Formats: sequence, C-alpha cells, structure tokens
Amino acid sequence: MEKVMRDFFLFLSSNKPMTKAAKQYGLKFGANRFVAGETVEQAVETIKELNDEGLCVTLDCLGEFVDNEQEAGEITDLCIDAVRAIGLNNLDSELSLKLTSLGLDLSEEIVLENMRRILDAATEHNVFVTIDMEDYERCGKTLAVFTQLKSEYNNIGTVIQAYLYRTEEDIKMLNEYSPNLRLVKGAYKESPEVAFPEKRDVDENFKKIIKMHLLNGNYTAVATHDDAIIDYTLNLVEEHGISKDQFEFQMLYGIREERQRELHKQGYKMRVYTPFGTDWYGYFMRRLAERPQNVAFVAKGIISK
Ligand code: FDA
Repeated sequence: MEKVMRDFFLFLSSNKPMTKAAKQYGLKFGANRFVAGETVEQAVETIKELNDEGLCVTLDCLGEFVDNEQEAGEITDLCIDAVRAIGLNNLDSELSLKLTSLGLDLSEEIVLENMRRILDAATEHNVFVTIDMEDYERCGKTLAVFTQLKSEYNNIGTVIQAYLYRTEEDIKMLNEYSPNLRLVKGAYKESPEVAFPEKRDVDENFKKIIKMHLLNGNYTAVATHDDAIIDYTLNLVEEHGISKDQFEFQMLYGIREERQRELHKQGYKMRVYTPFGTDWYGYFMRRLAERPQNVAFVAKGIISK
C-alpha cells in the first residue's frame, strides 16, 4: 500500500496543470507545514527564527520544470532578491535552486546566463549556492552545468543521489573539483534500469558515498532524516578523526524538528532546507510521497478550508 501511495504522489508531483493551478491558489492543504511562505519577506522572518535557535539555513527558491524564457528570468530575479535579502540582513543562510526553474530544459545557454547572474550576486553577498538534483533525465546535464560553473566560481555546490547506479562514478569524477556536495537518497520516481528499487540498497549506497566523499577530504552535507544514516556518519567521522568543520547535517523545514535541535545542541552544524515561493506543489507532493502518513495533514488542510 505504501508503495502505491508513494507512486501516486510522485505521479502527481510532475503534473503540469496541477502545478499551474496550485500557484494561483496560495499555500493550501497543509503545505505551509513544509514551505516557509510565498514571499522573500516571509522567508527572511523564518530564517531569522531558525538562526536565533542556532540553526543554519539553505533557502530554496521553489520552482521547477519551467518551459519559457520569461518565467525562467523571473525566477532568476527572485533568486537574486533572495540572495540580497540574505546578505543585507546578515542571515546565516545559503541558497538552493533547481536548474529546470532557470531554463535547463530550454537551452544550456539560457540556464548558464541565469546562473551567472545569480552567482555574481551571491559572490557579492558572500552566499553559497547549491544546485538541487532533479530527475535522472536531467542528472548528466545538471552535472555538466555544475562543472562548468565550478571552474568559474567558488561558491557553488550540487547534490548527488544515492539511489542512482551512476552515483559512485559521479563521486569519483567530481573529486577533481574538490566539491562541496549535499548527499541525499533521492526523491524522484526512477526506473529500476537507472536506480536501486530496494530501500536497503539505496541505504548501503548512501553510506558508501558518504564514506568516499568524506575520505576524499571534501566538504559533505549529509541530508537525511534517517537516524541510521546519521549514526553511521557520526561513527565514521569519529573513527577517521574527521573534523566537525568538514561536514554538516541537513534536514527539510518542518520535518524532525526536535532531532534538528538535538544535533545542533550536540555541537554539529545543522542546516535547515527552507523552501519559499508560489511554486510549492511538486515539492509538497514529493514530501507526501516520502511519508504517506503526512496525508493526514492534507485531509486536515482540506477540512479547515
Ligand atoms: P527516509 O525516507 O528513509 O526517512 C527516514 C525517516 O525520516 C522516516 O522514517 C521518517 O521518520 C522521517 N521522514 C522522512 N521523510 C519525511 C517526511 N516527508 N515527513 C516526515 N518525516 C519524514 N532529493 C533529491 O532528489 N534532490 C535534492 O536536491 C534533494 N535535496 C534535499 C535536501 C535536503 C536538506 C534533504 C533533507 C533532502 C533532500 N532531498 C533531495 C530528498 C531526499 O532525496 C529524500 O527523498 C528525503 O530526504 C527522504 O529520505 P531520508 O534520507 O530522510 O530517509
């Protein structure tokens, strides 16, 4: 049953008419549990609250699968506004974004131009930018854009997904760039031809790449809510004498908040991935797919409207 629900929500997450409709109706169905607001101003207030508790943030400008240049330009402007707001308010926050929101599906030229505009602003305000990883179809193109930009800018990282078979090779290939990478399990619906279908294989591969990337001496963001992976990382860093400056934990806004605070209190860097914007639908559906129990929030959201 859980798998059926998961597939159902992942199917809904890529539905374009629903995405467009959701943008016009504001944060609905309990989505505000996972999304910090629709405007930069609302996001700034949330970041301040998280920073006051000692938590770092990566602010995610929601948006994905954009199919026209004008919209890609508007999301670029929104990312620049977010970077300026982080800098001008002295917030402890990075920026996360998706290349399909900046024109990846239109042309490499457009996405590179938009990324350079964002990275120029981010350099001026000393903000680090992480390119989220989307579906398998875009993985190669995303890494090509990342390696091109990494040769031009220092303040850029990306994400590697443990569920893909290609991941170990990607970690090896990227090592020459000494990249700051966020490592995750992977959130999209992928075929067994390209991704491990079984959770235990994904978990094993996750541990393998955490170890590889840390022992290569690279900065590693372990992004998970899974205690088994967190414990594995803590044992690994202790065993190899890896300093707390070389890694951090990341979790999503609204998920396992107590655990986030606990890890911070234990002296680990804890970063909260905090999305904002009107394009919340796909992100919200993927969170429901990860944990169908969250559907109760949707039901409550509908009833209270
Ligand atoms: P798993 O799914 O095994 O969950 C472990 C436990 O965590 C669950 O038993 C439950 O207790 C709790 N939990 C997990 N998800 C929950 C939810 N939605 N609601 C409530 N509790 C939940 N993916 C991707 O493909 N590209 C990307 O760029 C990113 N970026 C990213 C950033 C950050 C900071 C995080 C934390 C995650 C991502 N992801 C991602 C998503 C990632 O790939 C993965 O889908 C989720 O993190 C869920 O996997 P876990 O590692 O948390 O473990």
